[in-house]
Amino acid sequence: MKYIVTSALPYANGKLHVGHVAGAYLPADIFVRFLRLQGEDVIYICGTDEHGTPISISADREGISPQEVVTRYHNSIKAAFDGIGIEFDNFSGTARKPHHELASDFFIQLYENGHIKPKSTLQFYCDHDKRYLPDRYVEGICPRCGTEGARGDQCDKCGQIYDTTTLKEPRCKICGNKPEIRETKHWFLQLDDFREQLKAWISTKDYWKENVRNFMLGLLEQGLIERSITRDLSWGVPVPLTEAESKVLYVWFDAPIGYISSTIEWAERIGDPERWKDYWQDKDTQLIHFIGKDNIIFHALIWPAMLMGQKTGYCLPHDIPANEFMNLEGDKISTSRNWAIWVDEFIQDFDGEYLRYYIAANAPEKQDSDFSFKDFQARINGELNNTLGNLANRVFAFAVKNFAGEIVKTSLDSDSKGVLANADSLLKEIEAGYRDYQVKKNTRLIIDIARLGNRYFDERKPWSMIKDNPQAVQETLYVCANLLAKLSIAMLPILPKHMQKLRNMLAQTPLPRFNHAYELLDNLCLQDTKPLFQKLEDEQIDAQLGKLHSMAKANQEGDKTSYDAVKPAITYDDFAKLDIRLARVISAEAVPKTDKLLKLKVDLGFEQRELVAGIAESYKPEDLVGRTISMLVNLEPRKIRGIESNGMILAAHGNGKIMTLIPDGDGSPGVVVK
Ligand code: MF3
Ligand code: ZN
Repeated sequence: MKYIVTSALPYANGKLHVGHVAGAYLPADIFVRFLRLQGEDVIYICGTDEHGTPISISADREGISPQEVVTRYHNSIKAAFDGIGIEFDNFSGTARKPHHELASDFFIQLYENGHIKPKSTLQFYCDHDKRYLPDRYVEGICPRCGTEGARGDQCDKCGQIYDTTTLKEPRCKICGNKPEIRETKHWFLQLDDFREQLKAWISTKDYWKENVRNFMLGLLEQGLIERSITRDLSWGVPVPLTEAESKVLYVWFDAPIGYISSTIEWAERIGDPERWKDYWQDKDTQLIHFIGKDNIIFHALIWPAMLMGQKTGYCLPHDIPANEFMNLEGDKISTSRNWAIWVDEFIQDFDGEYLRYYIAANAPEKQDSDFSFKDFQARINGELNNTLGNLANRVFAFAVKNFAGEIVKTSLDSDSKGVLANADSLLKEIEAGYRDYQVKKNTRLIIDIARLGNRYFDERKPWSMIKDNPQAVQETLYVCANLLAKLSIAMLPILPKHMQKLRNMLAQTPLPRFNHAYELLDNLCLQDTKPLFQKLEDEQIDAQLGKLHSMAKANQEGDKTSYDAVKPAITYDDFAKLDIRLARVISAEAVPKTDKLLKLKVDLGFEQRELVAGIAESYKPEDLVGRTISMLVNLEPRKIRGIESNGMILAAHGNGKIMTLIPDGDGSPGVVVK
């Protein structure tokens, strides 16, 4: 059996936070690691979702290209995954050329089969912002359940998707004004063409998680409305039709195709370019999509329909284990309110595997769960340190002290046999649990194995037997070493690094098969034993809580600056590479069709320069002329809105304002800042 496991492609428009990890990444990574322990043939595929309006809006706001936004977040997200041991076989991105080609091809095939049709439509247009407003940029009242703050195309509360123009009391999310409705032409996926096929397909999915299955059955019941799959934007996959100039594919149309294009990239990277077909074009491949619950409709309805409408025979999703959400300290995670734990920051303060453990133990599998720092501390200390770590420490210390670390295979009395048999029946349950995506239950069961060991050790009182009956003590140590070896395999998918270490100490092969967990160890000599885990102190936890609350508070008080993580230290030499100087503004004018950009001409004393600065929200052109400001002079030139920009104005961004940095005194142009 072959497996393709995917995690929802994260938007390259922000950093990774614990909610993402809990929803779509850790459960998949654990599942993949488990499959590998079973010797299965599996590839784990992901990449960043690099299109969509929010990305082009971020780029406009910062005066940089969408590609620059995407590159920044792609790298940041990838580094965060590395930091917590989420290991993909390939991590691509949807702005890459092969993806564009495949996405166009998907469109064409559907189009030629008559499943995509044009229609002139009414769409929200914001006269203030001079743009058509894509779904997520309109907010209003859900036409079905009446919830306020519903998005343009879907209500987060009741899950209903609807036609944008049926939204009640619409507001432009950028400026808050009421948008007008204008006519434009878009292309629609004829979902209803696939109704019978989808119904038949879903009827074979009785093993799906209830949340996903019920959601789908409900949708099919209601009937399938056609979905617009094009947008008026410049950033995205161009619609491959001559009459669709200046339109791109809707981000949700192209994104899931990224699962395939990333696999193609993988095949090329490993030097076997056709290999991806062995997975995607084999009907027996189990394609498994890990997602958060907000993505169900796209993966269980639209994406399968897109696959069904291709001439190429692709496999369809076998399972879609969608997770609920993880809240934070009792409140919904919200990036706009800065109520989140960012993975890159977290792993500066804690071992990344502590996060894996806590999220696994608290996985929002059937209902929303909560990340609480006190609970995090309690679990790491109570379960990892005092239970699992403690079993290893006491057994190792005892064996090293009394037997120079030698643990020999002994005969077993009925108590010992009983303990090992109990552990094996837990292992059976754990094995089935992993198949069934039950990571939360599994962490409990694995810790139960350690509990079993601690209880057994206590009852056998080796410390009081060592003089008179070293043989019995050897038996105790042998049984405990076996329990540790068993749980090192059972826990490997959740804590790969720590369990490798444990296995090294036990002189066991690093990458076993799950089946080995049922076998008894041979004689062994412990190697280089050390405590596995470290206790979390109250001060560490209080500091995290303090930081969380102060960030949210700063955000609430109108400071829209998100506190970027402090960057790693650089040398003075690094700093000295920056050529920062005073510059006098000679002329300034707005860049047409933008709200944020000004084109400036500045005098640097030794020469004059032209550049584009994203400061128009806080400065009128006439306010700037004659001013002396500071500027990074040796930044590579780049094109912004067709204008070559030669340098960068330095400004502070905070409290919703942009403040250029001006010298405290008379400085002539060209003077160096250092
Ligand atoms: N970027 C989307 C999100 O974060 C998920 C895209 S999943 C894909 O909600 F299948 F479309 F790639
Ligand atoms: Zn607006």
